[in-house]
Amino acid sequence: MHELLHQLNGCRFGHPLYVYQQIGSTSDRAKLLAENGASEGLLIMAEEQTAGRGRGGRAWLTPPGCALAFSLVLRPALTAEQAARLVMLAGVAVCEAVEQVAEVQPRLKWPNDVLLNGRKFAGLLAESALRGEALEYVVLGIGLNVSWAPAPEQVDFPATCLQAEAGREVDRAKLLRAILLRLEARYGQLSDEAAFHALFADWRARLVMLGEPAELRLETETLAGVAEDVAADGALLFRLPSGEVRRVLAGNLHLRPASAV
Ligand code: BTN
Repeated sequence: MHELLHQLNGCRFGHPLYVYQQIGSTSDRAKLLAENGASEGLLIMAEEQTAGRGRGGRAWLTPPGCALAFSLVLRPALTAEQAARLVMLAGVAVCEAVEQVAEVQPRLKWPNDVLLNGRKFAGLLAESALRGEALEYVVLGIGLNVSWAPAPEQVDFPATCLQAEAGREVDRAKLLRAILLRLEARYGQLSDEAAFHALFADWRARLVMLGEPAELRLETETLAGVAEDVAADGALLFRLPSGEVRRVLAGNLHLRPASAV
């Protein structure tokens, strides 16, 4: 990663840049700095995280030297209800950057997983702070397994890494630069309604499982049904066998075993 500073020349995001050999969580550090007034574009990245966090309080594993793990401070002009746009932006930007650098076509799994060949290799975590009805800042945490993937017993969804799927080495600094450039290129789409609909359409087009039988695991129950569609506020529209369609903002989608369909 020595080339990093050079690779980020000309990027709008990634300044200032703090690189740690080891840290608890890049998102925890970025939040602390954002609370203290850090400006948009500040980037924290780490070779190793000892307390990396995923969605729903799950751990995110980042062993040294084989992943990309970073958190970016953003201050978009959005309301609290529009916060899911950040995950859409990150998902589309990561897919486009991976396509460009590794020449493989990732898909997205609602709400914020990035998959290759049906297995997860990257996760997105957007954490917002509010000022009244408006977003004060968002810390966008992005983790990609580049040359290592967790073992099946360490995860609740099949995992993989980018190099295994691409069948070749991937330069992490180049990948980071490509992701930041795609984030920058699409950032303006968040706050312009017509442009946002194009971003939403690109996000939706990349989603797996839409229209398919699925299992939706919520905090207190697991539902079987069909992941019918998504709405522009990021909600999943999940059709139950009774015909009722539930709007769900947070949960975990799993394929339904064929025997249960
Ligand atoms: C998920 O799939 O549940 C989201 C995973 C997000 C992981 C990234 S790695 C960089 C940043 N720091 C963290 O502690 N988490 C995010």
